[in-house]
Amino acid sequence: MKIILGADHGGYELKNNIALWLKENNYQFEDIGVFTPDSVDYPDIAYKVAKSVSNSEFDRGILVCGSGVGVSIVANKVKGIRAVNCHDTVTARLSRQHNNTNIITFGGRFIAKEMAYEILKVWLNTEFEGGRHTNRINKIKQIEEK
Ligand code: RB5
Repeated sequence: MKIILGADHGGYELKNNIALWLKENNYQFEDIGVFTPDSVDYPDIAYKVAKSVSNSEFDRGILVCGSGVGVSIVANKVKGIRAVNCHDTVTARLSRQHNNTNIITFGGRFIAKEMAYEILKVWLNTEFEGGRHTNRINKIKQIEEK
């Protein structure tokens, strides 16, 4: 599984910790920044990550901003992206089983790094259930075509 990771200044610190955690746990990933805590506009980084998942260059994306909200709004505007702004392991699991999420977003100002690691363990290791949920995902795809 190839993972792409990005953050704005609000998510800079947590993103760096997540990069260390991914490395320690032998995940294949690319960190596209930011690499300084200087203020940037979150749509720029979120769009890059979302586009790279949408065009299958990467399988999954992780985005961090201050709240996780801005980057999730941007990511969900890109065709084929199902992003979850997640702060607990149950939502992480359900978002994979039912929604086949391909991007997870975190609020770097609101979540402890240890909690983010627990969430990532679940999110990266839970499969989509398919079945009745496939039909629902297909309906999302139909909306994207409108
Ligand atoms: C930046 O201050 C902040 O607005 C951004 O990181 C994010 O939380 C937006 O949703």
